[in-house]
Amino acid sequence: MPTIATSVPRAAFAWVTQKLMGKVGIPVITSNRINTPEVAEKVLAEGCADMVSMARPMLADADFVAKAAEGRADTIAPCIACNQACLDHTFSGKLTSCLVNPRACHETELVIEPADAPRRVAVVGAGPAGLSAALTAAQRGHEVTLFDRDREIGGQLNMAKQVPGKEEFWGLVDWYRTMVAEAGITLRLGHEASPDDLAGFDDVVIATGVLPRDPSIPGQDGPNVVDYIDVLRGKAKVGKRVAVIGAGGIGFDVSEFLVHEGESPTESLPAWMTEWGVTDPAEHRSGLAPEGPQPHAPARQVTLLQRKSERLGKRLGKTTGWIHRAALKMKNVEMIGGVNYEGIDADGLHVSFGEARERPTVIEADTVVLCAGQVSERSLADALEARGVACHVIGGADVAAELDAKRAIDQGTRLAATL
Ligand SMILES: Cc1cc2nc3c(=O)[nH]c(=O)nc-3n(C[C@H](O)[C@H](O)[C@H](O)COP(=O)(O)OP(=O)(O)OC[C@H]3O[C@@H](n4cnc5c(N)ncnc54)[C@H](O)[C@@H]3O)c2cc1C
Ligand SMILES: Cc1cc2nc3c(=O)[nH]c(=O)nc-3n(C[C@H](O)[C@H](O)[C@H](O)COP(=O)(O)O)c2cc1C
Ligand code: SF4
Repeated sequence: MPTIATSVPRAAFAWVTQKLMGKVGIPVITSNRINTPEVAEKVLAEGCADMVSMARPMLADADFVAKAAEGRADTIAPCIACNQACLDHTFSGKLTSCLVNPRACHETELVIEPADAPRRVAVVGAGPAGLSAALTAAQRGHEVTLFDRDREIGGQLNMAKQVPGKEEFWGLVDWYRTMVAEAGITLRLGHEASPDDLAGFDDVVIATGVLPRDPSIPGQDGPNVVDYIDVLRGKAKVGKRVAVIGAGGIGFDVSEFLVHEGESPTESLPAWMTEWGVTDPAEHRSGLAPEGPQPHAPARQVTLLQRKSERLGKRLGKTTGWIHRAALKMKNVEMIGGVNYEGIDADGLHVSFGEARERPTVIEADTVVLCAGQVSERSLADALEARGVACHVIGGADVAAELDAKRAIDQGTRLAATL
């Protein structure tokens, strides 16, 4: 069962230590997924433990305790329980760090110092790359203007937060909003930045993210084909039988989004325990319900496909990939690898297998969702270059392959530390 991943409800195991309270003669400390002072206070107030342990939240913000004591909890960088830069690194023999705080365990090497002289810095794109660059630059004393064509900051994090089990991304975007305001950054939202807007700045940072890759499948312009952006932004009507093209992180997340209906189990501890078959270890050995996991029936029949013949989800997080695979299996998502996409028509998605394009098969589907990768959105960077204007390109705008928020935030922070 998952015990610390982001889809585990906050303080999900505090009820276990609560059972020991008053029954043992030593202090009881509770742990796991307690990531804000408010949750910690609630655990204590409800008599679940004498003390609270926090591991990953201290990587996300080393000033957690000081900020809580000062009544500035909203400025604490939240641990989103992704494991991407902490335990995934630990178990791969890499130095532990933190997705939201790339300085964690790199404090002596990634130093954020006041700038020698303040400069006027423009950052285009308020996704994680642009946000971290803008924030670090402003914290160093630069005068920063941050542009985004959207009406809200966050970039793709605003899609991630729609996925059941990824609710922690709401807190991350809220934190950035608080910090952008506190740092005095000038925000220009709802504004598509053009080269003219960027004249007169000392430094221009392009963090314009990515565009969906065009998979060039015959029939992809049909009315039954939509892309992941329209699905996650609620703009696409999706039928009951769905084929999802592309089984990267986004393909997995979109599948999770599509099989769910109603409240996310991450928001309801009893629902989450039923879904994963978690019960009281005093009643059943190891806390595993004898009837096993009891997930809700899937809201849709989803087939998830990829071109590669390797196991689906092989490249997901080292400590969390199994959870995503198990969650989709519980919802009867069929996972098929090694396919060629032959075409899409009213019957659904036509595929074949292997180099010889054998075993032609129709995946019957009302809707086909494209999650076929991403390419860098470089149009603004190219337009600036054509004018001979130097700019720094970071995040997905720089390299789209294997992009994630960890790399985007790390790159944004490191660039701004040098401006
Ligand atoms: C469903 C989903 C789930 C995800 N889950 C995870 C996860 O669990 N962990 C993880 O690490 N990553 C995750 N990601 C990936 C992560 O969100 C991206 O890698 C990251 O957001 C890329 O950051 P970025 O700043 O480079 O670009 P983006 O987040 O794409 O931001 C680019 C911004 O630039 C703006 N922009 C573009 N052109 C202009 C212009 N000319 N003027 C003004 N604004 C402009 C756009 O509006 C956008 O807001 C997920 C992504 C999705 C879609
Ligand atoms: C980098 C890192 C190293 C850890 N090492 C250990 C360990 O050696 N032994 C252990 O029992 N738990 C270890 N843990 C687990 C934590 O003690 C804690 O139980 C877990 O992270 C859940 O709590 P949290 O949500 O506050 O992070 C480690 C966690 C992290 C992030
Ligand atoms: S990498 Fe993710 S899970 Fe680990 S401490 Fe940072 S935010 Fe938390």
